[in-house]
Amino acid sequence: MERTPGRVRLQDLTALHAPIRAELDAAMARVIDSGRFVLGEELEAFEHELAAYVGARAAVGCGSGSDALLLALMACDVGPGDEVIVPAYTFFASASAIARLGARPVFADIDPDSFAMDADHARRLAAGCKRLRAILPVHLFGRAGDVDGYLSLASELGVPVIEDAAQSIGARDASGAKVGSRAHLSCWSFYPTKNLGALGDGGMVTAHDRSLAERITALRSHGAHAAYQHEEVGINSRLDALQAAVLRVKLRHLEAWTKARAENAAYYDGAFAQAGASTSTQTLDDACLPLLTPAPLPFPARCVYHQYVVRVPGARRDALANDLRERGIETGIYYPVGLHQQPSLAIPGQRHAGLTATEAATRETLALPVHPELDRDARTRVAEEMICLLRG
Ligand SMILES: Cc1ncc(COP(=O)(O)O)c(C=O)c1O
Repeated sequence: MERTPGRVRLQDLTALHAPIRAELDAAMARVIDSGRFVLGEELEAFEHELAAYVGARAAVGCGSGSDALLLALMACDVGPGDEVIVPAYTFFASASAIARLGARPVFADIDPDSFAMDADHARRLAAGCKRLRAILPVHLFGRAGDVDGYLSLASELGVPVIEDAAQSIGARDASGAKVGSRAHLSCWSFYPTKNLGALGDGGMVTAHDRSLAERITALRSHGAHAAYQHEEVGINSRLDALQAAVLRVKLRHLEAWTKARAENAAYYDGAFAQAGASTSTQTLDDACLPLLTPAPLPFPARCVYHQYVVRVPGARRDALANDLRERGIETGIYYPVGLHQQPSLAIPGQRHAGLTATEAATRETLALPVHPELDRDARTRVAEEMICLLRG
């Protein structure tokens, strides 16, 4: 009898947690027995370990990646009427944190190969800004953007780089430096499906400047520098001790999981190249498979494949995603709409020019399953079904 193949999932947290379940249970039991659930030793230990892993001097745990962005902007005194340059192609939180403070997100285009902010476009936008307070690049899908470009632009402009590193823990930029080791402030998310995910929401800001980290430490606890002494108005956003304990366990497995993601990505690269796909730095001709795989990343840069994202040109992406779903294969579309097109971020009368790479990405990108628990049969099936559908 022929066996029906199972569903290939875009994420599989149950499979990820099964082999480390005893470690997670022990860590959670330790916190429950301690009776300390907010702030305290468990969080401090995780903050030290995370700072060491990303190469930062200080780390401040908070309630989510979205709050990490908000706290970082608050610590850089971003407020009403200010401007912050951010890419238009990213998750909503990268820009909503700016808007929540009454400041204006100024939308830059992306580099089509890295999907991260185009530093040259950001420079042109900065020339038209009157109250620019920061630039906020995003390292998307596990791949670092142009960190050298962002740092030199920020130093020319005299503003900090606040990087959204939610999707890129462990990634290295073109110089080989880890994401988190060079920007003024780096914002991390531990949303469950992130490469390092909590069992709920969680986030962190890492910093080099200890005084900025101290300010964020106060801001996450209602702006209190000492008990009941509120020098400014902050928010309530701490990383729970339970989540910190879980994340300490998971951090020990992160390198192995990242290696498994990279192996899955290398398999796809090879299978698609063999079938006639091009990489996103090449041009497609009629003889090619109509598929563009991620641009090669020369050593010492390192992608951690939070997502393995291909481009499907020619208005075929959505139909392909539907056909794959019918064959039991989950995919994701990150992101179908540019942030400049989000009604909640629109400013009456404002026009956005030069976002061509952003708009192309919203039409063409498709994320394939790449998670560490994806087995060989599943990834072979994904590649074969993709190739068959694209040829058909
Ligand atoms: C690029 C990016 N920025 C910010 C966030 C916000 O993180 P969180 O969901 O932890 O608030 C996410 C993830 O969800 C993200 O992918």
